[in-house]
Amino acid sequence: MDDLRDKYLGLIAGAADEAGLEDLRVQAVGKKGEISLKMRELGKMTPEERQTAGPALNALKDEINSALAAKKAGLADAALDERLRTEWLDVTLPGRGRGQGTLHPIAQVTEEVTAIFAELGFSVAEGPRIDTDWYNFDALNIPGHHPARAEMDTFYMHRAEGDNRPPHVLRTHTSPVQIRSMEKMGAPMRIICPGGVYRADYDQTHTPMFHQVEGLAIDKDLSMANLKWVLEEFVKAFFEVDGGVELRFRASHFPFTEPSAEVDIRCSWEDGTVKVGEGDDWLEILGSGMVHPKVLQAGGIDPTEWQGFAFGMGIDRIAMLKYGIPDLRAFFDSDLRWLRHYGFSALDVPTLHGGLSR
Ligand code: PHE
Repeated sequence: MDDLRDKYLGLIAGAADEAGLEDLRVQAVGKKGEISLKMRELGKMTPEERQTAGPALNALKDEINSALAAKKAGLADAALDERLRTEWLDVTLPGRGRGQGTLHPIAQVTEEVTAIFAELGFSVAEGPRIDTDWYNFDALNIPGHHPARAEMDTFYMHRAEGDNRPPHVLRTHTSPVQIRSMEKMGAPMRIICPGGVYRADYDQTHTPMFHQVEGLAIDKDLSMANLKWVLEEFVKAFFEVDGGVELRFRASHFPFTEPSAEVDIRCSWEDGTVKVGEGDDWLEILGSGMVHPKVLQAGGIDPTEWQGFAFGMGIDRIAMLKYGIPDLRAFFDSDLRWLRHYGFSALDVPTLHGGLSR
């Protein structure tokens, strides 16, 4: 029995894994195991022999069983330790950087403008970039022979051979959305319409595609004073300049407003960088005026009952001014370095109370 004990305690101590341990259990104390067979021999013994051999065999069986259990627990602990060692994860390591895009200054400024005008009760309207010449010109009191058509450097769409209808145009301004909004909503209303517009023109401050935001308010008893107040409130909120910004209203002419005014903003140019709020230069940022009665009529609104004011502002212009961007052409180069430098975090949503830009 001592030999059996030494043999199995030695084997159990040396078992490498749970499967090996199970084999040993079957060999020693399984139904046909060595110790079980020995217990069967008890029957052939004399009662005296049995009295000593029985308890001794039982004790040996218990000893082997507890050695098996202890080893099993030891192996499980070791296996767990090994897993903890190899599957260990340092959750304090910095995460893998993911390339994050930025919002283009035009998208950012469009959001800012929308936030400010929303606060003033204007909702956002949209229209197509390819429009009929009626919406882009005629309905806005620009008849076919009008010099404004030539001045606008219009891009015309192609018509099939033999199709003599006037060609569609790439809208030269966002003003056609005035007409579409009048048709859709009637009076009273307050809308802005941001979006891309097109003119054949190219230099430091002109690109063939650029962006405007149209504004249109129609109500009873609206006057130039309301227009001026709205624009001043907008500029104050938009430029967030400590010293304030100065506006200049210049009498002007547009076929679709009467009277009309162009609005310039005081700025300076130094080494190609533009600074708003100070200096001796003025940069035109918008055209505006009281909506011409013929335009109200074209939109289906009775001009004897309603008045409106309208303005069209260059989004790219005011983006250049606010963020000191010297060359408009770079807006559309898709240069990643430029986009990273002048772009905005997509998570910073501009609001009037939370700050327009950070
Ligand atoms: N549509 C004009 C332009 O593009 C701007 C404008 C809009 C002027 C509305 C007056 C009223 O220059």
